[in-house]
Amino acid sequence: MMTKPGDLSVTALYTSQVWAWGGLSHSHLFTSSDAKSVFDATTAGLAAARTSHCTLAPLHYSLLHRHVMIDHLLRASGYRHVIELAAGLSRRGAAVTSDADVRYTELDLPHVVELKRELLQRTDEGRAVLARPGLRLVEGDVETVALEPFVRPGEPVFVIAEGLMMYLTANARRCLFAKVRRLAAITGQVRFLFDLVPTNEEPEHDVTGRVIDAAIKRFTGGRGFERDTRTRNDIVTALREAGFDDTEAVASRDIAREWNLPDSDQPTQVVLFVTRASSPGGDGEEEVTCSH
Ligand SMILES: C[S@@+](CC[C@H](N)C(=O)[O-])C[C@H]1O[C@@H](n2cnc3c(N)ncnc32)[C@H](O)[C@@H]1O
Repeated sequence: MMTKPGDLSVTALYTSQVWAWGGLSHSHLFTSSDAKSVFDATTAGLAAARTSHCTLAPLHYSLLHRHVMIDHLLRASGYRHVIELAAGLSRRGAAVTSDADVRYTELDLPHVVELKRELLQRTDEGRAVLARPGLRLVEGDVETVALEPFVRPGEPVFVIAEGLMMYLTANARRCLFAKVRRLAAITGQVRFLFDLVPTNEEPEHDVTGRVIDAAIKRFTGGRGFERDTRTRNDIVTALREAGFDDTEAVASRDIAREWNLPDSDQPTQVVLFVTRASSPGGDGEEEVTCSH
């Protein structure tokens, strides 16, 4: 896979191997020796950097909790139409479209989508997944792509952004909120879900975040986490200003046992924001300057 400076596709390789390590369905369709090498190197590097101050479980447990929590919330929502932004090499679209009534659009940068197609082309099972009418892999940049072509009038849509928001500036996030919000004018209802740990909830003495950030910067030629000083309240306020209501923040540590997450005793740090909007559209977009 050809990458450019600032390209985050290596993170998609890493997470694809986490889903395989966690034994999640359909993850075998996306595994590769590259992904295994990135996973092994990252896991070893993080283990070496752990100190007695580390209070959190290793990163792969947090990611597994994040992914399974999103699966849980999508299933519980009953929505049959999904757009997954920055889907990377996620196995969720392949898993969910086993149900022929689900329409699932995955979006990521062109070289990541190309790699995903290549991985699926390797096996009969993968080719069968690629051929499903309900699954669409779309090449595009979340900051500039129009989402309207992927929805239908009067069909509520569930929009997922997993592992993306921490790389966006606060302004880019607000633009994305406004863009997702606008879909409600067509679909009638939008449910929007993303993960983002508020800065003030990151443990002060835990080096994991800094080590991951440094590792990502090395792999991507300089691009790492956006470290703005966001609180839960800031995120909820930005969603409200974009026209979303009923925002809930769900933390893994609060629900791990109740939701029967794998390795639920591992102390992980995941915060999901789940929100909704109905037509008519809000006016959040006027407040931010965005590229379209
Ligand atoms: C950490 S990975 C997460 C992948 C997937 N959501 C998962 O959890 O397995 C981040 C993904 O964001 C994608 N990405 C980053 N910036 C993007 C952009 N501007 N437009 C589309 N995709 C983007 C990367 O290509 C990568 O696949």
